Amino acid sequence: MKRHLLSAADLTLEDATLVLDTAEELEKVSERTVKKLPTLRGRTVVNLFFEDSTRTKTSFELAAKRLSADVINFSAKGSSVSKGETLKDTALTLEAMGSDAVVCRHSWSGAPANLSRWIRGSVVNAGDGTHEHPTQALLDAFTMRRRLGRIEGLKVTIVGDILHSRVARSNVLLLKTLGADVTLVAPPTLLPVGVEVWPAQVSYDLDAVLPKSDVVMMLRVQRERMGAAYFPSVREYSRRYGLDVRRVTALSDDAIVMHPGPMVRGMEIAPEVADGVRSTIMEQVANGVSVRMAVLYLLLGGSEPAIGSDS
Ligand code: NCD
Repeated sequence: MKRHLLSAADLTLEDATLVLDTAEELEKVSERTVKKLPTLRGRTVVNLFFEDSTRTKTSFELAAKRLSADVINFSAKGSSVSKGETLKDTALTLEAMGSDAVVCRHSWSGAPANLSRWIRGSVVNAGDGTHEHPTQALLDAFTMRRRLGRIEGLKVTIVGDILHSRVARSNVLLLKTLGADVTLVAPPTLLPVGVEVWPAQVSYDLDAVLPKSDVVMMLRVQRERMGAAYFPSVREYSRRYGLDVRRVTALSDDAIVMHPGPMVRGMEIAPEVADGVRSTIMEQVANGVSVRMAVLYLLLGGSEPAIGSDS
């Protein structure tokens, strides 16, 4: 493994498999009454979040704490960032206090990559602008492998706002490494320029793709990143690209429905589908903790077994 996790493309097949296998091992800890390992005792992890987050931030915090690391939660609101302090000065300040890893979320695509040049510790990209979100892709892959027993050869359909989605970018890259076959479905306005060179097929017809899919991953329309109107109306969007009860009947018996959250129920996904038996949404959240434990453990040079003999 490299020292930082900035992009899903940083992971070779061996690295990605190692993360998934380590997460599998660490998951056993989450099933215990005492959910803690001494593995990262004495190490410090900084959660540096410049953008809102529910799942990712709490998941990284819990992951670091379950490995006994000290955790500093930093959010831009209420910090000296609002007084004009730069990302670089903020990061150097936190490093001066002895942080070993910085988990960074920022609206600027490339912020974690810059951080990795300024500080000595490991940097984990927890979502940068519209660029990447590699740990989300890892937890999604972990969830697919859990539910379907493999990743290689799976037909994965990613639906919605591909243009603004760092989740889609990281998933496409990681799934390519792991040997899955990805199809992107979106209105033409929500596909990025240059999507033709991505290792994925593109379709505008969700109904045609669903029967052939093993995995359907629904994405939220990221209105906060939109300056103009990208589709006529919410109703029209749902009609063409929403996963409703009728559409789900076209799926094969074992197919699963995923969503990274936060979801907009009734827009990209119907509540009955989000809460249905095929949905892995809550499993994704739970798996996120084990996967992030594995990432922190491996990046911080886990030379001892992840679950030591004394634990
Ligand atoms: C996503 C994100 O922030 O990139 N959510 C997540 O991390 N689970 C997707 C989104 O905001 O729609």
